[in-house]
Amino acid sequence: MPINNHNIIRGNYQPPGDKSISHRILILSGQAIGKSEIFNLLEGEDVINTLKAMKLLGVQIKKKNNKYHVYGVPSGGLIEPRRKIDFGNSGTGIRLISGLISSNNIKVNLIGDSSLSKRPMKRVTEHLSKIGAKIKLKNDLYPPIEIKGTGAAIPLTFDIIIPSAQIKSAIMLSALNTNGSVKIKELNSTRDHTENMLKSMGYNIKVRENKSHRFIEMKNNKELKSINYNVPGDPSSAAFLITAACLRPGSRLIVKNMLFNKTRVGFIKTLKKMGGNIKIIKKRKIHNELIADLKIEQNKVLKSIKLNSIDIPLQIDEIPILSIAASFAQGTSVFKGLKELTVKESNRLLLIHKNLKRIGVKSIIKKYDLYILGNNDLKKGGAVIKHDNDHRILMSFFISNMICKKNNLFKDKSCVKTSYPTFFKHITKFSH
Ligand code: S3P
Repeated sequence: MPINNHNIIRGNYQPPGDKSISHRILILSGQAIGKSEIFNLLEGEDVINTLKAMKLLGVQIKKKNNKYHVYGVPSGGLIEPRRKIDFGNSGTGIRLISGLISSNNIKVNLIGDSSLSKRPMKRVTEHLSKIGAKIKLKNDLYPPIEIKGTGAAIPLTFDIIIPSAQIKSAIMLSALNTNGSVKIKELNSTRDHTENMLKSMGYNIKVRENKSHRFIEMKNNKELKSINYNVPGDPSSAAFLITAACLRPGSRLIVKNMLFNKTRVGFIKTLKKMGGNIKIIKKRKIHNELIADLKIEQNKVLKSIKLNSIDIPLQIDEIPILSIAASFAQGTSVFKGLKELTVKESNRLLLIHKNLKRIGVKSIIKKYDLYILGNNDLKKGGAVIKHDNDHRILMSFFISNMICKKNNLFKDKSCVKTSYPTFFKHITKFSH
């Protein structure tokens, strides 16, 4: 399991199933007519909580021969659960399913763990209230969320200012049981898996994009058809081993069957600009999603990078691991406009800054911009990493052992289960 500054990364790697797609396929197949089969579903805690939520709402889901069989209920047909629905650590789960519930005539209480109970929900519920759902939050801000959905949702036009696929998808899921035309305008840099999946399932959805914005129109006059779906590998999970390979010349990693949607692979572009030798060796489109195989053959050390605010949503979950790359890259790197990073599973901006300091890297936060003073020297390390049970902070700083003289210490590593239960197994397998 340990990884240190002598290791290189080598092997043929299949990343675990994509988390965003896993949530969405469980929810959408749960509203489709007939049986859907899902292969390679991510069996992380976040996704399993969404699976349990769908079951409590009346959807039958069974695992047989490595596949999940989902027997959907038609939109508007969700049943009132007998108890509160617990989403654990998952912002995606609680926000998306709030949207789904808001246009069903049921009353539901949605709760989460201590981290989720501090995350902002008003950004979603302020939109859902407008369609006619009655919603209460703790201190008008946080979970628990109490929703009394409406069976007669009002079709509206929404303008989303915060770059968030979760806000957009919550509204889109409420539209499944809204008669009429629901229109959404948002920034085009957020992930578009809900749109792509709805198209693949025969739904009446139109998507248009200009340079900066995306325009969505949904009408619920066509049935959502069942689907058989093979979940591609998660780029946000693969980012740890891909970055690790780029940190160390001599590494050679083949990545198989990874989701290559342009809203998700901003970090690949970033690593390439920093000197990462990453080649895309095979691209194909399945169910409206691009999928690729990659080859990383690292032959040089990295150099610094500047990311503007507009680039951030395209790599929002990869900023923690990119901060490790920046620490070991020659020059000062700048990540601009990281406000959204402060409301993730932890305040990631602050934890990156604090932990970089602990391992011996200087960084500066100016408002929401992060400056990292990097170089190709090994850092002192030997630090106790403060991860606040945030999976991506833990995994990023575990990889930082590769750039430290002494390995760092981690008190409880169990939070990797939320998104990447096989993380340590993969580290052991691919570090040599
Ligand atoms: C996700 C969207 C992102 C991302 C999260 C997963 C999704 O959040 O950080 O890990 O599946 O829609 P925001 O849309 O709130 O930025």
